[in-house]
Amino acid sequence: MNESPIRIVAAAAEDAEAIVGLLQPYVPLGIVLPRTVEEIRRRHADFLVARDGGRIVGTVALRDFGAGLHEIRSLVVDVAHAGHGLGSRLVEAAVREAAANGAGRVFALTLRPHLFARLGFRQVDMDLFPQKVWLDCAKCPKRDCCDEIALILEGEDLARFVREHGRS
Ligand SMILES: CC(C)(COP(=O)(O)OP(=O)(O)OC[C@H]1O[C@@H](n2cnc3c(N)ncnc32)[C@H](O)[C@@H]1OP(=O)(O)O)[C@@H](O)C(=O)NCCC(=O)NCCS
Repeated sequence: MNESPIRIVAAAAEDAEAIVGLLQPYVPLGIVLPRTVEEIRRRHADFLVARDGGRIVGTVALRDFGAGLHEIRSLVVDVAHAGHGLGSRLVEAAVREAAANGAGRVFALTLRPHLFARLGFRQVDMDLFPQKVWLDCAKCPKRDCCDEIALILEGEDLARFVREHGRS
């Protein structure tokens, strides 16, 4: 079998600069929120990275809002590696990580709803996540004209996902 050499693993503090490098092009487009190297170094445990040998070619982060609600955020794949399933693998790995940390509901706000829907997420009203709106949306340049779609994986859908998806 021809297995991908790209491994998805927990980020280390020293990956912070590479993570910022991946996120940076999408900040002015309003696709991901701005994150500093310092912040990511401090919060590196929230991040997973896709490693292709010594290079980091993708990343995704989780945020724990408490009460079993976790968000998938900061999802980016290097353009040279896009379109081959790596973004989906990162989301799968993030869901497994969230579930292992006690998540009962995993949500994302995204302009790429198909990617999440293919993995079993269903579209919901953004108002379901007031915590997110208060903490992040206030800082977003698109706060008054938000074009993101909210999706969630929860309950039996989340349990099925965890049963069906093996290791990344
Ligand atoms: C969005 C993003 C993370 C997707 O990464 P990716 O590695 O291209 O993701 P995938 O390959 O899993 O899926 C992308 C498309 O490739 C196709 N695809 C999936 N697996 C594939 C495979 N094995 N072979 C070929 N194509 C495949 C799918 O049709 C998918 O299209 P869809 O999402 O419209 O349904 C990446 O394009 C990116 O970094 N974009 C800029 C930042 C961004 O938009 N982030 C999302 C914020 S939520």
